[in-house]
Amino acid sequence: MSEQKALLIESKRGRFVVSSIPKPTLPPPGELIVKVKAAALNPIDWKIQAYDLFYEKYPAIVGNDVAGDVEEVGEGVVGFKKGDRVFFQGAFANEYAGYQQYTRARAGFVAHIPQQLSYSQAASIPVGLATAAIGLYANHPSGIGLNPLFDSSANYSGQVALVIGGSTSVGQYAIQLLRYARFGCIITYASGRHSEYLKSLGATECIDRKQVSLSELPEVVRKLTGAAPVKVVYDAISNDSQLAGYEILADDGGIVLTGENKLQDKISRTGSMKTCVRVVGIPFLPINQEFGKAMYKRLANLVEDGDLLPNRVEDLPNGLEGIVDGLERLKKDQVSGVKLIAHPQETS
Ligand SMILES: NC(=O)c1ccc[n+]([C@@H]2O[C@H](COP(=O)([O-])OP(=O)(O)OC[C@H]3O[C@@H](n4cnc5c(N)ncnc54)[C@H](OP(=O)(O)O)[C@@H]3O)[C@@H](O)[C@H]2O)c1
Repeated sequence: MSEQKALLIESKRGRFVVSSIPKPTLPPPGELIVKVKAAALNPIDWKIQAYDLFYEKYPAIVGNDVAGDVEEVGEGVVGFKKGDRVFFQGAFANEYAGYQQYTRARAGFVAHIPQQLSYSQAASIPVGLATAAIGLYANHPSGIGLNPLFDSSANYSGQVALVIGGSTSVGQYAIQLLRYARFGCIITYASGRHSEYLKSLGATECIDRKQVSLSELPEVVRKLTGAAPVKVVYDAISNDSQLAGYEILADDGGIVLTGENKLQDKISRTGSMKTCVRVVGIPFLPINQEFGKAMYKRLANLVEDGDLLPNRVEDLPNGLEGIVDGLERLKKDQVSGVKLIAHPQETS
C-alpha cells in the first residue's frame, strides 16, 4: 500500500508529529481524492489539540482549509476530473482533514480554483467564508437570513452593519459579504493599521480598537451612524465584544456570534426581539447543507468576478512540520491580518 506524510496529534492533548500513514485511494461514490498543495491554519486546530475537542480516536489529523489537485474521482461525480485545481473545507475527521498530503472531499462542497488564484490564496477561503456566509446569509437558525439563495439580488442599501474583528479571516469575509448584499454603511472594529485594507474590502468606516475600548464602542458607533439603526452585527471575536454588539444592535436587528453564545439568557429574560445566532461554519452539516451547496455552486464565479477576495496569505516553510510553529503563533495571538498557509507536499 502506498504511503503519504501526515501531521498527527499523537494522543489526547498529545504532541503534533509528522508520520507516514496509508495514502487514501478509491474514493467512495460522490467523493474525490485530492493531492493537498496548500492547507490554511485556523485557531480551532490548536484548540483541538489543547482541549481534546471533536475527535474520539487518536492519532488525529486536523486542518479544515484545503486547496490542491484532484487525484481520483469517485463514482457519480460530475464536473471534476483528475488534475483539476480545487478548494474545499475539510472536516473534523482524519480522512477529510487537510494536514496530510492526500485527503478526501465531498464533491458537492468543492469549487474549482479560479485561474487568478494561487493554491495558498484558495486555501484561505473555505472556513472563513463559510463562517461569515452561513451566519449572515443562511436562514435562521443557521444564520440571520440576509441572502439565503446566495445570489446577487440582496439589496440592503439603506442599512447599517457592524463587523467586530474585521481583520480576522472570518471578519474579512463578513465585510465582503455585507458589501455583496449592498449594505450602505459597513463599520468595522479592528486595529487601525488594517483600515485601508479593510476599506478596500468594503468597509465604509473603521474604528481603531487600539483607540476605542469595547465599552466605548456603542457610543462611538452611535456618533458615526446618527439616528440610523444598526441592523446587523457580525462579531468575529465573540468575547466581551458580544455585550457591546448587543447594545449597539437595533431592536429588530440580528447579531452573529462565532463563539459561545453569552447573550441568549439576556434575550430570553428581557423578551428582546433581537435575533442572535451562534454560527457553525460547516457547510456540509445537515442543517447547513442546502445553503452550503448553493454557496459552493457560486463560489468560483464570485472570486472570478472579483466580488470576493481571498485573505492575504503568509506561506510557511517546512511542509507539514511548519504547521506546528504556525499554530503556536496563532495561539499566542501573534498573527494579524494574514492567513498562515502550509504546503504538505514540501514535507521532507
Ligand atoms: N463558529 C465557527 O464555526 C467558527 C469558525 C471559524 C472561526 N471561529 C472563531 O472565530 C474567531 C475568528 O477566527 P479567525 O480564524 O478569523 O481569526 P484570526 O484571523 O486568527 O484572528 C486574528 C485577528 O484577531 C483580531 N483580534 C483579536 N482580538 C481582537 C479584539 N478584541 N477586537 C478586534 N479584533 C481582534 C486581531 O486583529 P488586529 O490585528 O486588527 O488587532 C487579529 O488580526 C476565532 O475565535 C475562531 O475560533 C468560529
